[in-house]
Amino acid sequence: MKRIFTGLQPSGALHIGNYVGALKPFIDLSAEYDSMLMVADYHAITTLKNPTELRQNIIDIARDYVAAGIDPQKAVIFRQSDVPEHTELGWVFQCLVTVPFLQQAHAYKDKVAKGLEPNAGLFAYPMLMAADILLYDTDIVPVGADQRQHVEYAREAAAKFNNAYGETFKEPQERIIEATATVPGTDGKKMSKSYGNTIPLFGTREEIAEAVMSIVTDSSGERPENVYAIHRVVRNEGELQSLYESYKGKYKSLKEALIEDIDAFVSPMREKRDSISDDNVRAFLKDGAERARERASAKMRDVRAKMGLTI
Ligand code: AMP
Ligand code: TRP
Repeated sequence: MKRIFTGLQPSGALHIGNYVGALKPFIDLSAEYDSMLMVADYHAITTLKNPTELRQNIIDIARDYVAAGIDPQKAVIFRQSDVPEHTELGWVFQCLVTVPFLQQAHAYKDKVAKGLEPNAGLFAYPMLMAADILLYDTDIVPVGADQRQHVEYAREAAAKFNNAYGETFKEPQERIIEATATVPGTDGKKMSKSYGNTIPLFGTREEIAEAVMSIVTDSSGERPENVYAIHRVVRNEGELQSLYESYKGKYKSLKEALIEDIDAFVSPMREKRDSISDDNVRAFLKDGAERARERASAKMRDVRAKMGLTI
């Protein structure tokens, strides 16, 4: 059975872009693939330094995975920091790639441009992500468009290692769904936790309404494009054609329709989420860590032996 793998950072509340860009494609494939879903907590510490917040975010995101429809009995859901082989293999890859190669990473450049501290972890981030993916012989990585280059970097790390030490790692492919590759936020730019332009996936109806009402519209075109662009990820375009036709020019009514549609879309997940306790989350993460670690430690034994790290 082929394997899918993806991860999300517990750096803030999940938004609709995370769901339709990464989680939904993961869920759609998980029936046919061996599936692994990671809480990327070591990635999150490149930017999040508050322990109370991090601890809460880890529990919340793992609960959200299950509420969104991922079955922890089938998929391996685990926390990156529970499996030390990730940081170990990340180091190995750092020793194989060059500084100029890492300097070309768009995500790094964007984060620094946004004012984030360019700490060395942020810089080496793509090699930790390569380790996440390659440790498990992953075939497919469902992600949003902003992660395309990171998966290319993972292929590069695999090729470098295989060249230097012999065939060891599979080269993974990203899976990016065109229609939802980059969901725009309330300001028309990419929806992102760090831009303050998100519609939270598990927000209350009031929070959703507030976010939708804040969508920036201009009256120059036929339809409010920023509203439509979000609407099309929660409702099919055929239905939207007639809705936008009959409410032409009535931006407030269109926003109200969008609030209804988002609310209908997320309310079953919200109910499921309320039924999952912190202790449930701790239990499935513990089980996931054991299953992931078994695979990761076997792979690392092979890596060490090939590199001459056994005597
Ligand atoms: P992050 O929140 O950066 O950990 O992202 C988690 C996953 O959600 C990654 O696969 C991203 O590519 C995806 N993602 C984040 N923002 C968006 C967006 N606005 N549209 C589509 N996918 C997104
Ligand atoms: N870098 C990804 C993001 O910010 C999160 C991530 C970490 C990831 N490790 C991964 C995604 C492995 C896919 C596979 O969205």
